[in-house]
This record gives sequence, structure tokens and C-alpha cells, in this order.
Amino acid sequence: MHIRTTIIASTALAFVAMVAEAHSWADCVDWRFKDPTAKPSWDAKDGTCHGYAREYPLKKNIRFGDLDSDSPNRHYQQDGALVPCSDGKSGIEKGADETRKNPISAAYFEGDPQWGPMAKARAGDIMCIRWPSKTHGSETGLLPVSINMPIVTLDKDPDQKTFSAASVITLPFNNCSTIAGDGDHTPCGGCFPVPGGLKTGNYVIQWRWELTNGQKKEFYTSCWDLGVTARDESSTTGTPKSVPTLDASTNIFGTLVQA
Ligand SMILES: *[C@@H]1O[C@H](CO)[C@@H](O)[C@H](O)[C@H]1NC(C)=O
Repeated sequence: MHIRTTIIASTALAFVAMVAEAHSWADCVDWRFKDPTAKPSWDAKDGTCHGYAREYPLKKNIRFGDLDSDSPNRHYQQDGALVPCSDGKSGIEKGADETRKNPISAAYFEGDPQWGPMAKARAGDIMCIRWPSKTHGSETGLLPVSINMPIVTLDKDPDQKTFSAASVITLPFNNCSTIAGDGDHTPCGGCFPVPGGLKTGNYVIQWRWELTNGQKKEFYTSCWDLGVTARDESSTTGTPKSVPTLDASTNIFGTLVQA
């Protein structure tokens, strides 16, 4: 009797632990499709990643979607203090350190430890971001992800209020290349145009997702820096990516927030 109770209790605990990890984060912040016209897909074989969030661990070769089981884990859930970029200490669920480094490039160190490279783009480029669906891939009624990007260069990270006021687009969470029965490893993502008028410099971007769980609002964030080259500067950094023209009613990139 006692043994059976113990087994039931630990099964319940394991379930609670699983549910507690069922959230998401920006896994790749510069995803490039191998074949953007015929087959845009978030599947590993259909694209490559060229930029990551701050201090994103590459070296350990952790499988896509499993960084929530790493230490420190990557699913940072804000608490009432609303620290916008995880400091590794705050939050209902503490995340990895994603605070701004001095110099900014220190969060993208490619030695040991090996962090992923910093994202770079020209103003007006389309950037695509990839995240794991975790347990939410087949849920309906989910709120979208907000991409928050102040359009000025800053000498420190903004607070959450400033980030939230600087939403450049909202993207459907559930835009996934579904792996049947495996939400943990199902990749999802969305694309957005880098504002066309930006000056050359480093800008901070926040991925923020509100998961409303009954009455409870939960907020998850990831932060990264984007090295932008202004449009009118002649490119010395290789082939520019394609720049589709966008108007305010364009919806293939999600919902553009009106300025
Ligand atoms: C949804 O994903 C596809 C790739 O599967 C991508 O081409 C498209 O831009 C995404 N939609 C949005 C709104 O970002």
C-alpha cells in the first residue's frame, strides 16, 4: 500500500516537473531557409542558424528544444519585477544570463565557453526567428509572440515598459514544422522586417511570449543584440539578403504594429 502510494506520488511529481518545463524561448534569431520560395521550413535540414540570443551555449551540442533541461535552463519566466532580459537570478523560473555585456560582443564569444554568434543584418532585411513548440504546438487560442525592438541604439538595456512600447510585430506562436507526437522538438518560428530607416549600430531585441494559463498570465522572454548596417551604406559584408517590399497591410510576416 505504502509502496503504491509512493509510486503514484512520484509519477505525479514527474508530471508536474514536465509541465513546469513546457515553455519556450528564442532558439535561433537569424534562421535562413535553404529554399525560401519553394520550401520555407523550420526543420533542421531546411535551414541554418546565423545568430543567437546572448550567451547561447553551442558547444554542448544540446538537441533543439532541450535547453530547458540544461543548467542554466533557457526558459526564463518573468516575475513581478519584470526584469526584461534574464539575469540568471530573477524570475518565477530563472533563466540563463541574457543581460547586456560590455562590450556587447562578449555575449557571443566563440572560444570556451562557446556562445553562438551575434546576429547581423541590413536595415530592411527580413529576419526569421525559431523557437520550440514544447507542449503547445497543437493548442488553439494561444497569444502571439511580440518582437520588441527600440529603434534607437542605447547605452544600456531598456526596462520592460520601454520594450513593450517598442513592439515592431506580433507573430503567431503556432507557426510550426510539426513533428507528430513530439512538441518538445517541433520547431516553430516567424519572420519580420528590420525597420528600414535604422542607422548603423547595435540594437537590442526582445522575444516575449505571454502564455495565459487560466487566470494566470505567464511571460517568457529572450534577448539578443542585432548589428545593423544602414541601408544607404554600401555593403562590405557579403551578399545582402532579399528585401521584399512591405506595406502596412502585408500579413505574410504577421501583424505589423502601427507606429
Ligand atoms: C510561418 O512559417 C513559414 C515557414 O514555415 C514562414 O515562411 C512564414 O514567414 C511564417 N509566418 C510568419 C507570420 O512569420
